[in-house]
Amino acid sequence: MKIIVSQTHEDSCKKAAVMFRELLREKPTAKLGLATGGTPLPLYAELARMNKAGEVDFSRACSVNLDEYCGLAPTHDQSYRYFMDTNLFNHINIDKSHTFVASGTKPPEEAAAELEEKVYEGGAPDLQLLGIGANGHIAFNEPATALVAESHPAPLTESTIDANARFFATRADVPSLSVTMGMKGILSAAKIIMLAEGKGKKEAIEGLVKGGSITTQNPSTFLKLHRDVTVFIDKELADAVGVK
Ligand code: GLP
Repeated sequence: MKIIVSQTHEDSCKKAAVMFRELLREKPTAKLGLATGGTPLPLYAELARMNKAGEVDFSRACSVNLDEYCGLAPTHDQSYRYFMDTNLFNHINIDKSHTFVASGTKPPEEAAAELEEKVYEGGAPDLQLLGIGANGHIAFNEPATALVAESHPAPLTESTIDANARFFATRADVPSLSVTMGMKGILSAAKIIMLAEGKGKKEAIEGLVKGGSITTQNPSTFLKLHRDVTVFIDKELADAVGVK
């Protein structure tokens, strides 16, 4: 696992954007595994800038997203489809019909089966972007006594509902169920980029970058099973965790 510490999160995102650019130059038809949340926003802004400047071309690329809230239509401003459209897809030259975000309105089992198919359609993602929850969750694979390999409907933990409530009018508006890629889909990507910012992610990142143990109580630790993971963290988080 490569750990790259940057002065600011914006710097981390610029470096991560270069990895996307290099991949797309090498393989214009690359399949991108994408993530939502506050963390990737500066990365998406940088990819949009690069695209406008002619530095990167998405016209032949495709994408699959990690997860979606159950119960939210794609037009809902907190759905992950809406997030992807407004924060990335509307600003780059990707063909939207080649982007996939799981359905938030189909029956959850059906939406999960569809997502599972899309993860592997034409091959697994060439590059998977991940954020991390303060409790170590990746996508919506929450800490538990057992994790799930395949895409599945997944309840959010109370702490994740608390964390995501900042995006909704009230806490009660946060969906309690999601559809998420499972651990196998995430680990199937050829390369993985993890982005994390700020000391709020200290415990989660500590589990990931320190020591060799893997635990279902911090799902991110399963990334230790993958041979090509790059973790980008800002200095504040690196100092909190004690890595240089
Ligand atoms: C969300 C998403 C994750 C994301 C995480 C962290 O619930 N399902 O994919 O990585 O929580 O979000 P943020 O980047 O806003 O801290």
